[in-house]
Amino acid sequence: MQGLKTKRILITGASSGIGAGMARVLAREGCRLVLHYNRNEAGVYQTLKQVQELGAEAQILKADFRQLNQLSLFFNQAWQIFDGLDGLVNNAGIVTKSTALKDADGSQFDDTLAVNLQAPYRLSAAFAQACIDSEQGGAIVNNSSIHGQASCEWFSAYAASKMGLDAITKVHAVEWGQYGIRVNGLAPGVVPVERTEHILNEPAMQQKWCERMPLGRYGKTDEMGEATAYLLSDASGWMTGSILTVDGGLIARGNYPQR
Ligand SMILES: NC(=O)c1ccc[n+]([C@@H]2O[C@H](COP(=O)([O-])OP(=O)(O)OC[C@H]3O[C@@H](n4cnc5c(N)ncnc54)[C@H](OP(=O)(O)O)[C@@H]3O)[C@@H](O)[C@H]2O)c1
Repeated sequence: MQGLKTKRILITGASSGIGAGMARVLAREGCRLVLHYNRNEAGVYQTLKQVQELGAEAQILKADFRQLNQLSLFFNQAWQIFDGLDGLVNNAGIVTKSTALKDADGSQFDDTLAVNLQAPYRLSAAFAQACIDSEQGGAIVNNSSIHGQASCEWFSAYAASKMGLDAITKVHAVEWGQYGIRVNGLAPGVVPVERTEHILNEPAMQQKWCERMPLGRYGKTDEMGEATAYLLSDASGWMTGSILTVDGGLIARGNYPQR
């Protein structure tokens, strides 16, 4: 993919799942990577090993994004590792399945909004300011979800965070285009990861999901990596404020009865 070689990219949530897939693809493209994790140290070391085997330079950085006051220090450390960054991938997220009635004290809502929305908001601002100060452009990819477009029961906190993330993607694109900073979103459909594969690969569940997808199968973490690489690369150089849906066609099909 054009223009990615040696680019310095911070990927949040690179210790498993989609973030690890993004890291592998960007490593293959020749990027230098800062791999963020929170609790899964074994996972991030596995990602590190995989990207190093692909020839990438990479370093690891830990932070709990619920501690919003620590984000500025975290970002400064990430910026210094390769003496700057060319791209930021806001991928870390929690998938909260709850309801407002069960979350009576609102703590699940608060944590979801902190990790999925407030952290990307603050990291994006820190990245944009550092790019402006360094008189360089940059690219941000916000990993959203199809829940940013249409959701369902149990997902009010998650959907609020992803719909909010799509909103800041568009507004940041508008505000920072003048500085050569592009901001786009990725909206994955259903992608089995370590956290979910035991549920999603259960045959009855797999059939229930896959028959609703025109392409008839789940997504793969590396496919999310390919889409992210595109959004960071020169191939998407005139693209900003867009949300790229990669979901096997799931959301394109309305909830109509089968014909
Ligand atoms: N998989 C899907 O089907 C799907 C679909 C649409 C969107 N997404 C989005 O894709 C992103 C990655 O999710 P995934 O499915 O790949 O799940 P995952 O494997 O569970 O990855 C989640 C990542 O977020 C990090 N994280 C969680 N809580 C955090 C916190 N408090 N502070 C900092 N980092 C934290 C985790 O770090 P540690 O494990 O190291 O703590 C992990 O690296 C999320 O934003 C999710 O909403 C996923």
